[in-house]
Amino acid sequence: MEEFKISFVKAREALDSRGNPTVEVEVRTKGRGQGIALVPAGASKGAHEALELRDGDPRRFKGRGVLRAVNNVNNIIAPAIMGFDSRRQRALDRLLITLDGTPNKSKLGANAILGVSLANAKAAADTMKLPLFQYLGGARARVMPVPLMNIINGGKHAGNELSLQEFLIIPVGADSFREAIRMACEVYYELKDYLKSKYGLLAINVGDEGGFAPPMKLTREALDALVKAIKSAGYDPETQVVLGLDAAASSFYDEDRGVYKVDGQDLTKEQLLEFYLDLVDEYPIKSIEDPFYEEDFEAFREITQRLKDKVQIVGDDLFVTNVKRLRRGIEIGAANALLLKVNQIGTLSEAIDAAELAMKNGYNVIVSHRSGETEDTTIADLAVALNAGQIKTGAPARGERTAKYNRLLRIEDYLGEEAVYPGMRIFK
Ligand code: PGA
Ligand code: ZN
Repeated sequence: MEEFKISFVKAREALDSRGNPTVEVEVRTKGRGQGIALVPAGASKGAHEALELRDGDPRRFKGRGVLRAVNNVNNIIAPAIMGFDSRRQRALDRLLITLDGTPNKSKLGANAILGVSLANAKAAADTMKLPLFQYLGGARARVMPVPLMNIINGGKHAGNELSLQEFLIIPVGADSFREAIRMACEVYYELKDYLKSKYGLLAINVGDEGGFAPPMKLTREALDALVKAIKSAGYDPETQVVLGLDAAASSFYDEDRGVYKVDGQDLTKEQLLEFYLDLVDEYPIKSIEDPFYEEDFEAFREITQRLKDKVQIVGDDLFVTNVKRLRRGIEIGAANALLLKVNQIGTLSEAIDAAELAMKNGYNVIVSHRSGETEDTTIADLAVALNAGQIKTGAPARGERTAKYNRLLRIEDYLGEEAVYPGMRIFK
C-alpha cells in the first residue's frame, strides 16, 4: 500500500511552555497523511531517563538549543526512514533505536527519536482518516481518564518553599469526564479565592503546571487549602474530589547525608514514611507519587506494603517508563502504579510496552505530561488508547495544559454513549 509510505520528514526548533527550545517533527505519507509532534521536557527529571540532547552552545538560547537533535532527524533519521510503511510503528521504533545504538538514546537524542516516533503515528492515523486514539487503541479504546490535577505547585516547579512538588485533586465522584473537569475547575476557582484572601494577591501566581504557587512552607498548609476549596465548591473530600501528592522526593533528598529535607526538617527515610502514614490518616489522600528518592526501591516496597489497600503508590523517577526498572519494581512489590511519560523512554512502542507490563501485573497506569509542555495533545489520545484510566496533565490553566483537557472533551463527545468514566473504580 503505497499511500502509507513515508514521503517527507522534517524537524525544526520550536518552543515549549518555559520558552525553551524543543524539537518539532513533521512526517507526511504518500497518501497525504500528515503528523506533527512536539516533544516535552521535564524539570525534576529522573536520573535514568533517556537523554534529551541539547546543543550546549552558549551563544544560542543559553546553551539550550536543540539544533543537533534537529539535524539528527533531518540528516540521519529522515534518509533512513523515507519510504517506510508508517503503519509499522514497532518496526520503525526498532529502526530508530538501532540507528541510535546507545542504551539511553544519547547519540541521536531521545528528543529527536520521540519526535519522529510520535509524528509517524499521527501521519499513519491521518492517512487512515482515524483519530489518533482509535488508530492506537482500536475499538477497545473507550475509557476516559480520571484527571489528577496539580493545583498547588511546589518543589522545582514553583518559586515557593513547599518541599513536595505537586498537590493534586482527583474528581472521582463525576460520572463523565466533562463533569469531572467542571468539578475540578470549580475547586480551582474556590482555591484561588481562598489563597487570595489568606495570603494576598501574590499567592495566585501560577507555577509551571498551572497550579498556584502560594508562599506556603508546610505540606499540611497546602493540603488544608485543598480540603477547604473542595468543601467551598460543595463537594465531599472523601468521596467526590479526593487528593493526591507527587513528592518528587529525589529533589529534596540529600544524598551525602542520607536525609530528606521536608518542611524545614531533616527526616530519615523511616521518619519520612511515618510522615506519609500520618498524612494519609489525616487527609483523603488516594495517590502518592515518588515518596522516596529514585534509587530506593526498598523504601518504595515498604510504603506499598503499608498502604496498598488504600493508596496508589506511583513510580515516576523510580521507573522512568522503562520496562527494565519496572520489572525490578514488580519483582519486589515496589509501588503499585506506573507514571507513563513518553519522553522518559523515547519511543511510542517502548512506552506502550511499559504500560502493558504494568497492567498485566496489576499496576495502575497514569499517562503524564511534563512540566515543560507544548500544545501537542498526543498524551490525551494515548490515555484513551491504552484505557489507562488516569491522566496527569496539570491545572485547568495555561494553554499547554488545557489543550490536553480540551482534546479529551472532544474525544468523549466523539465516543458518545461508548465513553466510560471510571471514577473511584481506578483505585480498586
Ligand atoms: P517534570 O515533573 O516534568 O518536571 O519531571 C513532572 C513530575 O514529576 O511528575
Ligand atoms: Zn513526578
